[in-house]
Amino acid sequence: MPSSAPTFTVVIEPAGWTFTAPADVPILQAAREAGFVLPSSCRNGTCRACLCPVKSGQTAYTIEWPGVSADEKTEGLILPCVSVARSDLVIEAPRAILVSQLARRSPFAKTQE
Ligand code: FES
Repeated sequence: MPSSAPTFTVVIEPAGWTFTAPADVPILQAAREAGFVLPSSCRNGTCRACLCPVKSGQTAYTIEWPGVSADEKTEGLILPCVSVARSDLVIEAPRAILVSQLARRSPFAKTQE
């Protein structure tokens, strides 16, 4: 069932890819649903594999104690697996992948040459 929450536009730099993130869906999940894979592992805010800078915009955490320090928060770093957008955002994620690119990298993928 689609969310009725407000939505925001998220730009993934440096690629310039854009997707829509509902205010009640973690940014990592919203990206995945839009066809983009951001680095991740635990998806619960502890491993820090998804840590990335927000270049502009506001976010909020969905958990009380995300695995970022006060200094990292001040520097604008977030964990998108447990963060939701509170405005339009620009995030820096140079290791982001388009799902279509991921399929081409799989040893199980068959490509039409
Ligand atoms: S995926 Fe582990 S902290 Fe985000």
